[in-house]
Order: sequence, then C-alpha cells, then structure tokens
Amino acid sequence: SLLSLEKIEEFKQRGGDVVNGDFAENIVVSGVDLRILPVGSRLRVNDALLELTQIGKECHQHCRIFEQVGDCIMPREGVFARVISGGTIGKGDSIDVIIQPFRAAVITVSDRSFAGERPDESGPIVADMLGKAGYHVLPVEILSDDRQCLAARMKAICDDNEADLIVTTGGTGFSPRDCTPEATMDIAERVVPGIPEAMRAYSLQKTKRAMLSRATAGIRGRTLIINLPGSSRAAKENLECIIEALHHGIEILTSSSVECGETIKERGNAL
Ligand code: MTE
Repeated sequence: SLLSLEKIEEFKQRGGDVVNGDFAENIVVSGVDLRILPVGSRLRVNDALLELTQIGKECHQHCRIFEQVGDCIMPREGVFARVISGGTIGKGDSIDVIIQPFRAAVITVSDRSFAGERPDESGPIVADMLGKAGYHVLPVEILSDDRQCLAARMKAICDDNEADLIVTTGGTGFSPRDCTPEATMDIAERVVPGIPEAMRAYSLQKTKRAMLSRATAGIRGRTLIINLPGSSRAAKENLECIIEALHHGIEILTSSSVECGETIKERGNAL
C-alpha cells in the first residue's frame, strides 16, 4: 500500500496526530498524487517494479485514527499495488511512474463470422483505429449473436479488469438475432446515452439508414462499453466520430480524482 506524503501532511494540518506508517501504508511517496494514476500504472523504485491494482479501499471497521480524528485518509487516498519484481528500496529513493496505455477489448458479434462463414472485417478495422489512437488493443474476439454468452463475456472483461474499454461491432440492427444492445444493457450499471446519440447524429449526415442502428453505450465498474454497427464502413464511421472524446471519459472513469476538463498529464505537471 502506498500513500502520498502531501495527503498525510494535509491530514496533520486538519488535526490528525499521525506519523508516516500510522495508516499501515508500506511506502510514502512525495511529489506524486497517486490517486490520479489509472489502475495498471507501474511504479519503479530501483529494481523493484509495482503495478497499481486498486485505488482507495472500503473501510469496514473504523480504526484508532478514525476514532481520534473522525476521519482516515487510507480508504480515500491509499493505493494498492502488486509487486511484479522485488528489490530493495530505501528512504529518499526516487520513484518513476509509468502510465500504461488504456486497454481496449474488441468483440465482433456475428453468427456468421463465429461459424467461420464470413471473414471478420470490422473487428480488425476497429482494432487498428484504436491502436493508432494509442490504446493497447487485446486480440479481437468473435462471438455469436447469443445474448447470454455475450453479456457473460463482457461482464468478465469488466469484473476481472481485463480492459478499460470494450468496443463491440455488429448485432445492433433489426434482425431477430441482433441482441448486442440488450446484452450490453444486461450488464451495464450506468447508461451513457451521449455516445450513441453522437454516433447517430454524425452518421445521419452520411446515410439515413444510420437511424437503424440500435447501438448503446454503458459503464460497468471502471470499464466503458460501446456498441458499433457491424459493417466495416459503418463501424469506422461511427468510431471516427467518438474516438477523440473517449480518452478523456476513460481517464475520468479509471482514475478516482481527475476532474472534468483536467488531464492526468496536466495534473501531474501541477504537482
Ligand atoms: N452508420 C454509418 N455511419 N454508416 C452506415 O453505413 N449502416 C446502418 C447503421 N449505421 C450505417 C450506420 C445500417 S444499414 C444498419 S442496419 C445499422 O447500422 C445496424 O447495423 P448492424 O446490424 O450491422 O449492427
């Protein structure tokens, strides 16, 4: 566990009678606001490499500090990491913060591609666009138009923290088997109507048939899910309209204290 020195100092100014280590933190870091780093960021100190796994922590039982001061910063400000490679670290060592690119999962939803009857064209196009926009793109998965299977796979990606963004392509139309929006809404905890609204408004300038896509977008945990239509042209046109704004949304979703209008980079420089 790690805490920012500045947060401990602020806590002391509010009357907290604590010294470093009192929150059971293993490492105190100065000059970095740890909470703005996305999960997956890496921290290198000498030979030791840590990977951020969790920001903040639910406080089940109020500790001695909470009882004394009426507050404890660990549940809010503490971050947690796993040790990827061990090493020796000491007081005064410097820490390098390596922010990992956002991870994108691409799922092509098509009975025919799943059965090997039609090559998947849109999945690779979507993956290529996301890669060029700076995402770390996971291998494209092809699933059939099976609502339960699709929902289960997307739920696992979100809950196991495999990706920050899931982009589906296909299954948004009127054919009786099309169920991508339903599968998405089965597992979404919050709806993001602005993204499909923007995609349809943009696409309507290209074809009246854009209104036939029932694409949705939603959030589960810290993962954003977006549906794109299935044809490669439609997938490309829809994605090109939203790709620029997405990054900022995912930045807010994956780090706990980045405000709207701010970026991790700006915030980091301000420290
Ligand atoms: N959006 C754009 N930008 N360009 C297109 O060509 N095709 C539409 C629509 N959205 C299209 C588009 C059509 S014809 C359909 S049927 C729907 O997306 C749903 O596509 P899907 O069933 O392959 O998901």
